Amino acid sequence: MNILVPGCGGFIGSHFVERMLARDGVTIVGWDAETSKISHLLDHPRLVLRQRLLKGPSAYEAFAADVENCDWLVNLAAICNPSQYNTEPLRTIYANFIDGYPIVELASQYKKPLIHYSTSEVYGRTLASYVSSEVYAAEDLYLMDAERTPMVMGPIQNQRWTYATAKQLLERLIYAYHKESGLDFAVIRPFNFFGPRMDYLPGIEGEGKPRVLAMFIAAVLQGRPMLLVDGGRAKRTITSIHDAIDALVAVIERREQSLNHFYNIGNPANEVSMRELAQAVRSAFARVTGEPRFLDHPTLDVDARAFYGDGYEDCDRRILDISAEQARLAWTPKRSLEQLLDETVGYYWQKYGERSRLRATG
Ligand SMILES: NC(=O)c1ccc[n+]([C@@H]2O[C@H](COP(=O)([O-])OP(=O)(O)OC[C@H]3O[C@@H](n4cnc5c(N)ncnc54)[C@H](O)[C@@H]3O)[C@@H](O)[C@H]2O)c1
Repeated sequence: MNILVPGCGGFIGSHFVERMLARDGVTIVGWDAETSKISHLLDHPRLVLRQRLLKGPSAYEAFAADVENCDWLVNLAAICNPSQYNTEPLRTIYANFIDGYPIVELASQYKKPLIHYSTSEVYGRTLASYVSSEVYAAEDLYLMDAERTPMVMGPIQNQRWTYATAKQLLERLIYAYHKESGLDFAVIRPFNFFGPRMDYLPGIEGEGKPRVLAMFIAAVLQGRPMLLVDGGRAKRTITSIHDAIDALVAVIERREQSLNHFYNIGNPANEVSMRELAQAVRSAFARVTGEPRFLDHPTLDVDARAFYGDGYEDCDRRILDISAEQARLAWTPKRSLEQLLDETVGYYWQKYGERSRLRATG
């Protein structure tokens, strides 16, 4: 089996490529300019790496030949850093819609099944967030079902929604190609995948504002307070990267049942507010290191607009219905929040714990 993977060098790509190369008979042809997360795989005889971005006519010409030769196209290429959605909206729209357009066209032209990574952000805010508190708890107003729930974005000036709308339009393009040209597809909407190699740790591995867990872990390692945007009220469901990869593998293995559907991939059992997540991170550090000092690690409340800039707006909650996914994929997420935090914190502690230890001992 030959799998073509644009964005192979990112967080999800690194785990997917690692998992698939462990199987006999699988070849991965990966496209990405970034390779640090797959450095341990670069010498693998069944990994063919095109170390460049898919951008511009010459890249797409070379890519077309790879599409023609593949059995599956798994598209992971994107810009998906929340702090860029409102600060670099043009780049966000280009990377998540315009750069993705030719990938969809080529999959359709060569009749190759396309597994496309979208986002749980396509739902926008919950319907419940617009109604009075008495009806807020009605399940229909907040539970996200991949083929039933409407998508509710904020106004255009709130540029945070550039990412979600670009991703949504690409989903609509894929569906249109399916209906008009017979493209076979699976669209995956990730709900906060966490694990080793996620994003980058700001102040240690790069600069900027990655997703929340990377922010929290970097803060703890560097002795800074964990910042709680708007008091850490927003709720998210957290998913182990290994459960997420299990779902992707199931899409490939159960082709007859899996194709031509949209998938929520996440773990509804792991729903937490960001304040609760900060507490869970403290506990994970204490468990992993055996050092109780982490239980008192401080947090600091910050205003969302001050933190993310103008045009930011948050989603109140993202809780998913996965009953259809469980049935079609014969898949169920298994890792608890505690397990996945221990694994992730343990990974970063092994890499960077010495800095924290030196600071603590002065
Ligand atoms: N990780 C999550 O929890 C999560 C949540 C929601 C959505 N997603 C989606 O899943 C996909 C993968 O996410 P990730 O967490 O691995 O992100 P990531 O940023 O770690 O990886 C994306 C990779 O795509 C590459 N890339 C960007 N533009 C490219 C191009 N033109 N050609 C080739 N490569 C390109 C980047 O260099 C990067 O290595 C993205 O579509 C993202 O929007 C992920």
